[in-house]
Amino acid sequence: MENLSRRRALTLGVALGLVGAAAPVPAWASAGTAGAGKLAGAGAAAGPGPEWIWDEAADPLMVRMIEGGHVPAINRAWEGWVNNNDPIPGGLPSDFAAYLTQVNRLPSWADQAKLQRAGDFNRRRDTYLFMLYGLGSGIMSTVIPREAKSVYWSAGGADMQDRAAKTFTFGYDLSQLGAFKPTGQFVVTANKTRVVHAAVRHLLPQSPHWKAVADESIPISAADILVTFHSLGTYVHQKLLEWRIPYPAADQEAFLHMWQVAIHLLGVPYEHIPKTWAEARAQSQQVLTPILTPSTEGIALAEDLLGLTAQIDLGVTRGFLNEFVRYVLSDQVGDWLGLRRDYAAAALVRTAWPAFILFREGLSPVMPGTFYMFDQFIRAIAMLFLNKGSSGTTTPITIPTGNRAG
Ligand code: HEM
Repeated sequence: MENLSRRRALTLGVALGLVGAAAPVPAWASAGTAGAGKLAGAGAAAGPGPEWIWDEAADPLMVRMIEGGHVPAINRAWEGWVNNNDPIPGGLPSDFAAYLTQVNRLPSWADQAKLQRAGDFNRRRDTYLFMLYGLGSGIMSTVIPREAKSVYWSAGGADMQDRAAKTFTFGYDLSQLGAFKPTGQFVVTANKTRVVHAAVRHLLPQSPHWKAVADESIPISAADILVTFHSLGTYVHQKLLEWRIPYPAADQEAFLHMWQVAIHLLGVPYEHIPKTWAEARAQSQQVLTPILTPSTEGIALAEDLLGLTAQIDLGVTRGFLNEFVRYVLSDQVGDWLGLRRDYAAAALVRTAWPAFILFREGLSPVMPGTFYMFDQFIRAIAMLFLNKGSSGTTTPITIPTGNRAG
């Protein structure tokens, strides 16, 4: 059994491009498959592993805000709080305002030159990033059981269109040129998200539905956030390499740095953040690949997400969309999620997508006959992203006050 699941994890790891090079694996990762109940190994003498870290600063604060009934006022007060250099809004409870003042800044190790380069890279590579974050990472999140179960049973799970819009906001704000500058918006968006996660840690344990399916007592540990980072940053990084997109070392480093700062702003302590892509890849193989598995909640979320895209004209059929997801995430994941096969579309994706990349990158003079189809497909995905699911231009992230009813 042990061997079987190990082999399955390896095959899946290869398919996802996540089989790592030999690199040091953090103690918490090598202690077993990711999960609560695993004490970090000897290397963790310096402190608890990230599966035992939540958010010391934000969590107790959000218990007070929720219990004190302050959340609706906070949501109203911070609606217009958007740019990194906007003053902390008025009308907030004083301890909440003090907390924001404390955290709404970049860590001392943030490197503006690298962040600027990452923004430029994101702009140059937006086509592939849209596809990989949207259809790769987005659908992968539904086979990360803890994430799927918490997203499904939190308030946002009941309205996936709205939730997808908020998540797009995060990716959009992160990817902008100047995202981390005073005039950018990402530091604010990340801090709003951090507070939402803290609220969820207090709320979800009160949900009988979540408690019935969860294998943990408090959701969203630092280890869970690292797992999600691997499904986003590490996964996309590997796919770009696998697709042979021109990707110089300085861009790779900048892209990693951007993610390091992002997850730090979400509350992950610096010492637990991978320092190199090799380390990230090895960690991902340890903590992400082996835990991927379907769940009732995840299957429902994937259907919701893929159904969402059906509302706009992608210029392709649902069969094609299913096959693109299978192409970027493996047939194993496609089978888990019950994505109906379309063998003609599958053959098309597997031959035409690489040809499309070669042509776009100027590596082949031959324009594939399917160029316009892919082009339209990408534009439609990009529009979904850029319109933030139609919710306008301001950051719509709001703190929930309850859970999904049932
Ligand atoms: C909320 C991003 C990790 C579960 C959010 C929101 C964003 C976000 C932007 C606010 C928008 C919304 O309300 O939907 C991220 C990023 C992560 C991460 C970038 C890591 C890099 C996680 C993990 C879990 C999780 C590890 C659970 C295991 C949730 C839940 C909500 C949420 C349950 C609340 C949805 C609601 O309003 O009901 N996240 N997240 N997130 N996230 Fe995360």
